[in-house]
Amino acid sequence: MPNDTGFVPQDARADVLEIALAGLTASPKTLPAMLFYDDEGCRLFYEITRLPEYYLTRTETALLTSIGPALVPDGFGDAVLVEFGGSDETKARILLDRPDSPFKTYVSIDVAAPALTAMRDRLGESHPDLAVVPIVADFMQPLRLPPLGAQRMGFFPGSTIGNLDPAAAIRFLAAARDSLGADAWFLLGADLRKSPKILLPAYNDAAGVTAAFNLNLLRRLNREADANFDLGAFRHEAVWKDGDSRIEMHLISSRDQAVRLGGRTIRFAEAESIHTENSYKHTPDRIVEIAARAGWEMQRIWKDHAGLFGVFLLRGG
Ligand code: AVI
Repeated sequence: MPNDTGFVPQDARADVLEIALAGLTASPKTLPAMLFYDDEGCRLFYEITRLPEYYLTRTETALLTSIGPALVPDGFGDAVLVEFGGSDETKARILLDRPDSPFKTYVSIDVAAPALTAMRDRLGESHPDLAVVPIVADFMQPLRLPPLGAQRMGFFPGSTIGNLDPAAAIRFLAAARDSLGADAWFLLGADLRKSPKILLPAYNDAAGVTAAFNLNLLRRLNREADANFDLGAFRHEAVWKDGDSRIEMHLISSRDQAVRLGGRTIRFAEAESIHTENSYKHTPDRIVEIAARAGWEMQRIWKDHAGLFGVFLLRGG
């Protein structure tokens, strides 16, 4: 399976070939999910978020919008919102756009410098009174943030927490707690455990967008890692692993084949898999437990009426 975060470590980020070689010479074969997000992968992911089967984005957006003032703790006045992985400020805008928003500063941490600059420009236009602080960093690592004032709220929407193995999720939340400092708050959006009848179509949509998103990984290796994958010789597969409570995405080789990768030859047996992503679907109780292990106390949980998605408000001690 992919490393327990699915995220490309900062020191290795530049070297797609090295990462791909490590994953594809391992047994079983893996590729980290963060390799999905080249320009085409970002475009395909955006398309995924608009698919009828992919309920996550629209459910979370509706939930964040409907919760209203209760999302912000009492007494918040001159506050800072710190988004982890926030080069796209769409979800943060739901909080920042409220007429009674207490947030005077928006800090956004992401590895994608150009996307952060574009985000700062957009918010500069629409929110001239908001201080926007982009920080180019790997949010999986502990960070030294500039002094942020007394009222701080971390924000991690989109169920990205589900792409982390539980141990990595605990490490991330603990590091975020350290970065935000004592007495901070944290707003977390997470997809919830539910019937595979709902989950499987979300990761294997009828229009084939998720399949294209998964296969685009191989196209990226052809371009950036001197590979010669035949995209027609691999197929997308999404499976529900009940014991692990996660969707797994795989690319399955449709025949015995040999593929060039940076001067090496990688052999695939017929039906052999490359494991490309985990997407955990926790129960609310499990999220309470994961948060507690990272030093956060659950203050409030909101769910949509069908119980598909949860927004969790945490407080650090
Ligand atoms: C980014 N992340 C929360 C998505 C998910 O649902 O796990 C990535 C994704 N993979 C396939 N479809 C969407």
